[in-house]
Amino acid sequence: MRASVAGWMTWWARGISERLAAEGILRFERIIGVVERSVYGVLAKVVGVVLWDYGEWTVVWGTLFLVGLIVYTWDWVVGWRDEARFRAAGCVNADGVAPVVLRREEGYWLIRARGVAADDFKDRVRRRRLEQAFGVRIVDAVELPRGLIRLVVGTERIPEFLRYEALIGYLERLSERAGMRVALVFGASPVGLLTRDLADLPHLLIAGETGSGKSSLLRFLLVQLVGFLRVEVSVIDLKGGVEFSGFERWVRVASTLEEGVKLLEEMNEELDRRLSMLKRLGVVRLEDVPWGPRRVVLVIDEVADLLAEAKGLTEHNRLVGSARFLLGRLARLGRAAGIHLVVATQRPTTDVIDGQIRENLPARVVFHIKSDAGSIAVLGDGQATELPTSVKGRCLWDWGTERMEVQVPWISHEIALRVLGGLRGDGAPRSPRGEAAPMSR
Ligand SMILES: Nc1ncnc2c1ncn2[C@@H]1O[C@H](COP(=O)(O)OP(=O)(O)O)[C@@H](O)[C@H]1O
Ligand SMILES: [Mg+2]
Repeated sequence: MRASVAGWMTWWARGISERLAAEGILRFERIIGVVERSVYGVLAKVVGVVLWDYGEWTVVWGTLFLVGLIVYTWDWVVGWRDEARFRAAGCVNADGVAPVVLRREEGYWLIRARGVAADDFKDRVRRRRLEQAFGVRIVDAVELPRGLIRLVVGTERIPEFLRYEALIGYLERLSERAGMRVALVFGASPVGLLTRDLADLPHLLIAGETGSGKSSLLRFLLVQLVGFLRVEVSVIDLKGGVEFSGFERWVRVASTLEEGVKLLEEMNEELDRRLSMLKRLGVVRLEDVPWGPRRVVLVIDEVADLLAEAKGLTEHNRLVGSARFLLGRLARLGRAAGIHLVVATQRPTTDVIDGQIRENLPARVVFHIKSDAGSIAVLGDGQATELPTSVKGRCLWDWGTERMEVQVPWISHEIALRVLGGLRGDGAPRSPRGEAAPMSR
């Protein structure tokens, strides 16, 4: 009897070492996995060989006891390891008690917080330490009833460069997807491709220093809005209009202050028309209007050019005054009327965008910013200063309680024009890849 147990033990130990050698495993987690599987193996042997001699009830109770013991021990080991990680990250309550991970699911963890607030998981420094300790990305922490917290975690690695072409299939499927009204893809995130409905946001502020990728993101969004979603889009680009030259075929581009203000006036008239229609119909949202007027998007690249006053230029400042008022109105009232703003700036501080407009642009995409003050102005903390400067198109998504790093896909000006030509037509038929389609015979 004893001999056979010893035999099994040797078999078990040899099995482990062979498997370790075969897989070349060195990492703790995987070793634990092998040990775990072997423990179950041994359990089966112990039950079969040792307990069998003592009658069937001993087998039943003995098995239950052993399983319980193993589960309990295993739980204890994992819990102990989690606790050590929470402690290392400084994530404990006032009494020094750490949270407990109750459940780990694909994409989220359920946590018993024990007096640790959701915000503590999102505090910039603590979050980074937790991410390092647990080897995941913390994207969101939502407080649930009864002291529970739902931690949205991502494990996907973000690439340093992402080609637009890699997303075509996804974009094509997305534009057909029901339920989302203006579904936009922003890029690769730890939780997969970040896709959000512009109608929910309902406005977007894009910030970041020169050369960080703001205009390129606008271009990618334009391709989606105009090409795939066929939303009505207008653009204000006072940088001479070069950034969007060629796009006039499908969108209206205002490239001087006068044109910009005129466009804003017209959009405000449209806003009034839509609001009075909603009132007449007695509904509060565009979705409730039976014939569903189309959504409208206004894209503004470098909003400082539109909103910054200049000393001594009376006429200029009069126009800027109007622009501020008109833009503020769209930001405040646009949502219900299906009018959405996408606004980019390298100067997100209050002297450019006043608090009232900023508050009405709750969704943020923030690229690298040098100054803490600039980062704090859009994110409330300095995280944008820590983004890698060597990776172009890397940004932070910040909306409600969500915060995550995102890699924006790259689409060049020429390809964007060709793609739009293919999807919306400009004579030559082209594919969503931007290649000229083969001539039909
Ligand atoms: N998503 C991206 N992926 C790769 N490179 C990018 C990306 N976005 C921008 N770049 C590079 O950075 C340059 C500057 O980008 P741009 O969008 O003009 O910045 P900004 O408008 O913030 O000044 C681009 O010409 C391109 O070379
Ligand atoms: Mg730019």
